[in-house]
Amino acid sequence: AGTLREAAEAEGVFIGSAIADHRLSDSRYNAIASTEFNSVTAENVMKWESIQPSRGSFNFAGGDRLVDFAEQNDQQVWGHTLVWHSQLPDWVENGGFDAAELTAITDEHITTVMDHYEGDIAYWDVVNEAFNEDGTFRQSVFQQTIGEEYIANAFRTAAQADPGAKLCINDYNIEGVNAKSNGMYNLVRDLLAAGVQVDCVGFQSHLILDSIPGDIRTNLQRFADLGVEVVVTELDIRIPMPADSAELQRQGDQFESVVSSCLAVDGCAGVTVWGFGDADSWVPDVFEGQGAACLYDENYQPKPAYDGVLAGL
Ligand code: XIL
Repeated sequence: AGTLREAAEAEGVFIGSAIADHRLSDSRYNAIASTEFNSVTAENVMKWESIQPSRGSFNFAGGDRLVDFAEQNDQQVWGHTLVWHSQLPDWVENGGFDAAELTAITDEHITTVMDHYEGDIAYWDVVNEAFNEDGTFRQSVFQQTIGEEYIANAFRTAAQADPGAKLCINDYNIEGVNAKSNGMYNLVRDLLAAGVQVDCVGFQSHLILDSIPGDIRTNLQRFADLGVEVVVTELDIRIPMPADSAELQRQGDQFESVVSSCLAVDGCAGVTVWGFGDADSWVPDVFEGQGAACLYDENYQPKPAYDGVLAGL
């Protein structure tokens, strides 16, 4: 069989991975990143704390490296992320700004970053993780200071800044039909009705072995029926450690089922995994006792998960 990338291209979709800037210098990492994927997402370097760590001082070096890497390898770049409560520098989060000031700061951030990368980014996550689990809006500094209007404002500003980029809203635990995905659905419907440009919804898909929602296809389809693209943006499937071979086999089947559920939906533009190697995954750092969530093992050998993704494409 060929690569994931060849399989995706044959289906007219993209297969992407989050890329860790500091790992690109490793030859095994670099070889897989450049040959197996046709889309790349910055794992960290385009986040607010990295790109505007202090007010008015922008650092594009890491993002520029990713854009250069993608250009060398004929890959699209997924921009991640403009407005998010996390990895947000203290000067924004605890700046004590009023609504007008925080709106101006947000607009300036969006405009400066999107202008810098104009023409280089296919999709931007404009707003990330706006929802609580019950479908209400998360009480981020943006929500608390500006109110839910911050979301429409961000999309309007983004549409002006780079008219060529597709504009997305992204979240986790919205893969199946549930209170949180209902909240997202209602928001996207209302934004579109108000004439706000929203091109895509990202379903992060940080999933748990043997707990994959059974209605991913149905859920993605209802979003696609609104007229937006749907994308699996941060797929991984974590396992309690140590993972045994039966679990790794089931994980492969479950990767296949998530990928094929997306591809079954007209309007599924592609799937991105949140890192490809277990050695680099964010999972063990954040979910205690869990891991083995990626397509390749700690030594960059393909797992059943790799074959599952290939089979699902
Ligand atoms: C994670 C990165 O993988 C880690 O390296 C970092 O320390 C924290 O953020 N949802 C998102 C991603 O949208 O940006 C997060 O990435 C994972 C959860």
